[in-house]
Amino acid sequence: MYVTWDESLSVGVAELDSDHKKLLAILDDFSTACYAGQGSQDLHDILARLIENAKHHFDKEEALMDRHGYPMLAEHKKEHQKLIEQMERLERSLCAEAVGAASFPLSVSNDTMKFLNNWLTDHIKADDLGYKPHLNSLGVR
Ligand SMILES: [Fe+2]
Ligand SMILES: [Fe+2]
Repeated sequence: MYVTWDESLSVGVAELDSDHKKLLAILDDFSTACYAGQGSQDLHDILARLIENAKHHFDKEEALMDRHGYPMLAEHKKEHQKLIEQMERLERSLCAEAVGAASFPLSVSNDTMKFLNNWLTDHIKADDLGYKPHLNSLGVR
């Protein structure tokens, strides 16, 4: 396990916590696939799955914040947008690298691995935990 969820990341809303766990598990799949030297197609598939699940989660989270009048919604939405753009950029750069290289070795740098490992947890700590007291005080669990 390269990326794990622990209680310190809990936003106190069960469904959102379970989304976060799922996203972290996909990120972990990606790390595992990289270190196992799996083919570039596998890496693209995992990234596509990550982006799809992240979009779905962000929409759900935004709808919940909106429904409960969270005052930082606009800023939070911008952060989500940025996260998706980062991931789509990474996907494109991996695709570009993969041209002509039918399978591994596809170089995924240590910096990229580090970026991926922190991609979601940094957002949870910096932004998602921000809505926790607001939603929890309204009884959203
Ligand atoms: Fe978020
Ligand atoms: Fe989130």
